[in-house]
Amino acid sequence: MRKKVIAGNWKMNMLPNEAMEMIAALAPLIKDTENEVVLCVPYTDLFYSLLAVQETNIKIGAQNMHFEEKGAYTGEISGKMLKSIGVQYVIIGHSERRQYFAETDETVNKKIKAAFLNNLKPIVCVGETLEQREAGIQYDIITEQTKKALDGLTEEQAANTIIAYEPIWAIGTGKTATKEDANDACRKIREKIAEIYGQNVAERVIIQYGGSMKPENAKELLEMSDIDGGLIGGASLKAETFEKIVNYNK
Ligand code: PGA
Repeated sequence: MRKKVIAGNWKMNMLPNEAMEMIAALAPLIKDTENEVVLCVPYTDLFYSLLAVQETNIKIGAQNMHFEEKGAYTGEISGKMLKSIGVQYVIIGHSERRQYFAETDETVNKKIKAAFLNNLKPIVCVGETLEQREAGIQYDIITEQTKKALDGLTEEQAANTIIAYEPIWAIGTGKTATKEDANDACRKIREKIAEIYGQNVAERVIIQYGGSMKPENAKELLEMSDIDGGLIGGASLKAETFEKIVNYNK
């Protein structure tokens, strides 16, 4: 049985005091969950959030990192830096980074490798645009993104990569993929991984759905056979909504 991983993606929201308040409110509400709970917070909230999650079952992630360990890369943060303060997860290749910050399949792949070098667990985002979906090529797009993301990883690394299937048209739009469509996409990704690494590895990989997941639709999505968790933007900003998603199976 794969463990469900429920990860919040705060994007460019939340000041440190808001982060600490949210975590203080969330922690008691989710303390008994068997699901893995992660909050991916802005860099400026990392340290405060790490303090706030002490003695809780909440893990902290970043939303991006550079693939080099250090050097002349003004404004960048390395995996080594994240690890040094206790960060455990990192989102890589979110569609907003691919779209606005020139992230490519190649940089995504380099960042995943750098994440593993620093014992960070990567949450790697793949997903199609509306045009690609309408053209009926969504599975080609997401399986190709998955293949390129995992290129050169060992079996163990591949098995420990979290893939977040996030159809771009569903992000922040209030439009959610139907549970069947989301599950089909996650299954296609798993089949691709099986093709490259074998069935055993594919069965271990956590594949999340993301895109307007909220308390109202979380349960039906998270109960699907190939959806092993969620990457949640808007609904992760408030303890009372995020808690309901984490506790969908209570
Ligand atoms: P959303 O964002 O839940 O606000 O749609 C999800 C994401 O971009 O990770």
